Amino acid sequence: MASIVTCIAPVNIAVIKYWGKRDEKLILPLNDSLSATLSTEQMHAKTTVMISPNFTKDRIWLNGKEESFENPRLVACLREIRKRATSKNGKNCELKVHICSENNFPTAAGLASSAAGYACLVYTLGKAFGVEGDLTSIARQGSGSACRSLMGGFVRWMKGTQNDGSDSIAEQVFHENHWADMRVLILVVSDSRKKVSSTSGMQLSVKTSDLLKHRVQNVVPQRTKEMIQALESKCFHTFAELTMRDSSSFHAVCLDTYPPAVYMNDVSHSIVDFVHRYNKLKGSNKVAYTFDAGPNACLFLLEEDVPEVVGLIKAVFPPHVEGKTFMRGLPVENAV
Ligand code: DP6
Repeated sequence: MASIVTCIAPVNIAVIKYWGKRDEKLILPLNDSLSATLSTEQMHAKTTVMISPNFTKDRIWLNGKEESFENPRLVACLREIRKRATSKNGKNCELKVHICSENNFPTAAGLASSAAGYACLVYTLGKAFGVEGDLTSIARQGSGSACRSLMGGFVRWMKGTQNDGSDSIAEQVFHENHWADMRVLILVVSDSRKKVSSTSGMQLSVKTSDLLKHRVQNVVPQRTKEMIQALESKCFHTFAELTMRDSSSFHAVCLDTYPPAVYMNDVSHSIVDFVHRYNKLKGSNKVAYTFDAGPNACLFLLEEDVPEVVGLIKAVFPPHVEGKTFMRGLPVENAV
């Protein structure tokens, strides 16, 4: 058993959004979701796990500050890893762990920090305890979207139908080299902490939004099929339309929530307007936006269009709306 392991994990950006749980404790979603994994150079989570017989209790440091180990999601992830390690190694894996985890980008600003963070935590714990096989069902229990950061390329998280969550796992649908010239541009509109976390926002949507029921039953299943077809045939125009429609459908659900959860701001809306104007000028969709539970924009576009779009963004938006470009990414990996 390794005693010290460090790994890094990428962020993923959903093009079909997860919003709403059918089981809060196991983190089982109401609908399938689909995301693109980004490259790790600029945005990633990094976790080091140490296991030692000398440690007397489990401890965790997040971005340099020690946090309580009472977080039920953290406890669930570690418990599941220990359970798997015990059944594999045939002995109790109760040695205590020390965990250091950091994100090199704003936490909780709607930039998928919990996704990268929990994917990294679970993967690193898995390595340290010698656990093999599917880890997505464990990462999911840290943060739903985290299960999609364990793989590169385009990844689908199946909602599953079982009460125990055994079939709610994530699978790669397209390899990281499938659409090699696809790029993602992240526009940081604000890096302050979001007012309503995804977890509580979606809880309230499940309780109060009729539109969420419609989205889950009538919109997402068909859209997911169409999205997979668009990705398979690399039809950017259709991919872009589906991505933008799904972002708007998700934010419409947030506004249909009572009281409403407002994540996009005026700059976000002006980015939407900018993208539609640009696409109209070009005669087909060249750029797609998507917004998570925050005001920051993720733009999908092809490599050949990056210079022009970046130039226009610099000219049109305030200087703090800085664009960062990403390739489609590789899965979580060992850092050392
Ligand atoms: C809008 O995975 O952060 O980014 O499972 O409660 O931790 P919890 O929620 P989280 O929600 C992500 C919501 C989203 C859409 C998405 O990534 O699919």
